[in-house]
Amino acid sequence: MKITGTTRIRFILGDPVQQIIASHNSNLRYEADGLDVAVCPLHVRAEDLETVVQSIRCMHNVIGFGITIPHKIAILPLLDSLTERAALIGSVNTIARRPDGSLLGDNVDGQGYLDGLTRDGVDVRGLRVLQFGAGGAGRAVAFSLASAGAAELVIRNRNMERAIALAQDVARAYPACMVRASDLVAEDDVRQAEIIVNTTSQGMHAEDACLFDYSVLAAHQVVSDIIMVPELTPLLKAGKDAGCLVAYGKRMTEAQYPLVCALLGIDRPHQVHGGAEV
Ligand SMILES: NC(=O)c1ccc[n+]([C@@H]2O[C@H](COP(=O)([O-])OP(=O)(O)OC[C@H]3O[C@@H](n4cnc5c(N)ncnc54)[C@H](OP(=O)(O)O)[C@@H]3O)[C@@H](O)[C@H]2O)c1
Repeated sequence: MKITGTTRIRFILGDPVQQIIASHNSNLRYEADGLDVAVCPLHVRAEDLETVVQSIRCMHNVIGFGITIPHKIAILPLLDSLTERAALIGSVNTIARRPDGSLLGDNVDGQGYLDGLTRDGVDVRGLRVLQFGAGGAGRAVAFSLASAGAAELVIRNRNMERAIALAQDVARAYPACMVRASDLVAEDDVRQAEIIVNTTSQGMHAEDACLFDYSVLAAHQVVSDIIMVPELTPLLKAGKDAGCLVAYGKRMTEAQYPLVCALLGIDRPHQVHGGAEV
C-alpha cells in the first residue's frame, strides 16, 4: 500500500495493541476501494492518553482514530462532543477529528452488531434476547437491541452491579423494552430466548468455561458471539451443532467499516488547499 503526504491517516489507540488486526483488514479494504487512507495502531498507556489525544488535534492529516481497551470510557472528558448514542452508551470506539482539530466521539459497536445481524437476515423487533456481558461492547449491544425494538432483554454478567446498571440505563432510555439483570443463568431464560448473544470475552481461550449448558440450545434460536478470535467460539459451535442460525463476531466488525467511513468522511472526496484540510 502507498502512504504519502496526501494519505488520510487514522489511528487505533489501545493498551495492549498486539491483538489488533482490524487495522490490517481496514487497510486492505481502503486499498481495494481505491481510497487514499491508512490506519495504524498506537500503543498508548493510560497515563499518556491525554497527551496523545491533545497532540492528535494538531495533526492535520489525521481524520480520526479508533479507541479500544482500556480507553473507551477514560477518553470521554478529553473530547469536545459526543453523538447521542455514544452519550447514551457511556463509551466511544471511534473519534472523528474535524479540520479545526475538534474531536467528536461516537460508538458504532452496537450499530455494527445490529447491521451484522441484519445481513444474516435477523430482525430483532419483538424478539426476546438473552445477553451475556455488560462491559463496553455489551453496553453498546444492549442499547442497540433495545433501540431496534427487542421486546425483552435479560442481561447476565459476572459483575452483577454492572448488569443492573446497564439494565437500568437501557430501561430508562427504551421503556418499551422489558429489561432485567439476572445473577444466574436460568434454564427458562435460555429456552425462551430467541437470540442469545455473548458480549463477554469468555470463549476466547480454550480453557474458558461454558456460559451455560449448551445442550439446551434449540434450532429455532439465533446464537451470536461478538468475539472475533476464535471465529467459531464454543458457544457458536454448540449453536451450529444444534442447527441454530449462527452470527459471527467478524460480521459486527465488517459492518462497522461503512459506519466509520461515514463518520470520518472517508466516503467523501478529500480536498487539500495550501496544506490546510477543508
Ligand atoms: N466483533 C467486534 O466488532 C467487537 C467489538 C468490540 C469488542 N469485541 C469483543 O467483545 C469482547 C468484550 O470486549 P469489551 O470491550 O466489552 O471488554 P470489557 O469492557 O473489558 O468487558 C468485558 C466483559 O467480559 C466479561 N468477562 C471477562 N472475562 C470474563 C470471565 N473470565 N468470565 C466471565 N465474564 C468475563 C466482563 O465481565 P465483568 O463485568 O464481570 O468483568 C465484561 O462483561 C472482547 O472479546 C472483544 O474482543 C468485539
